[in-house]
Amino acid sequence: MSDIAAEIVPVITSRPSADPIIRCTGLQKWYGAVHALKNVDFHAERGEVVGLVGDNGAGKSTLIKILSGVHTQDQGRIFIEGKDASITGPEVAMRLGIETIYQYTAMVPEMSIAQNFFIGREPLKFGRAGFGVVDRKKMRRESMEGLKGVGLHLRGPDTPVKALSGGQRQGVAIARAMHFRSKVLILDEPTNHLSVKETNKVLDHVVELKAQGVTSIFISHNLHHIHPISDRIVAMARGQKVLDVPRDEVSVEEMTRIIS
Ligand SMILES: Nc1ncnc2c1ncn2[C@@H]1O[C@H](COP(=O)(O)OP(=O)(O)O)[C@@H](O)[C@H]1O
Ligand SMILES: [Mg+2]
Repeated sequence: MSDIAAEIVPVITSRPSADPIIRCTGLQKWYGAVHALKNVDFHAERGEVVGLVGDNGAGKSTLIKILSGVHTQDQGRIFIEGKDASITGPEVAMRLGIETIYQYTAMVPEMSIAQNFFIGREPLKFGRAGFGVVDRKKMRRESMEGLKGVGLHLRGPDTPVKALSGGQRQGVAIARAMHFRSKVLILDEPTNHLSVKETNKVLDHVVELKAQGVTSIFISHNLHHIHPISDRIVAMARGQKVLDVPRDEVSVEEMTRIIS
């Protein structure tokens, strides 16, 4: 069998500026015998929307899992705002301002909107005795303010997340990222299983966040969703980056051809 991957000639016309928010060089990742990332360079500029595309198994999720601290690379370096970063866990990524929204977002369905909003980052209040207790009032108030900020008017902070639609859950996750002043939002197939209306809302959020200077890395199978909102398109195939160009230099038809 011929190695088709060897025949792919990468088209790379975008290079990082002097001050990208994320820059990775030479990333390698193996899962046992599977070479999931093969010497991948990747970057994202401040306030940029990067559309990340590729067939199933191309390595997209592996790349973003490394950036969000779910996995660590076997080789290669990551620089966040110019500093060498060792992203050893999701809490490290969050501290660096990187928030990730998956298809099934990291939410606990049985818990309330307010609890999910502050999960892992609960605010404390201190009484006279000096003990810290979770400030539930603040959680309720600020979660509702955060949701209003992204144009979501949900029933109330105590509503369990399981009562929300998929699109509303994505909205809560996006509002949460905004509240904690995330600098980079990574969305891995966030629009799968969403209605057209809900999908458009998620796409609108990404555009709004860009206006606020937030960087987004948006993964989707739907190239028609990715193309209009992206500033730049990065395509992966078989663990390699095969395309990295300004959006205007590639059409949806060309993207389809490259990744299939
Ligand atoms: N946890 C894992 N264990 C073993 N193999 C994995 C794991 N995650 C991904 N892979 C493999 O790594 C390759 C890249 O997968 P992935 O990054 O999920 O691709 P994509 O998100 O582009 O579909 C695939 O061959 C996949 O089967
Ligand atoms: Mg994936």
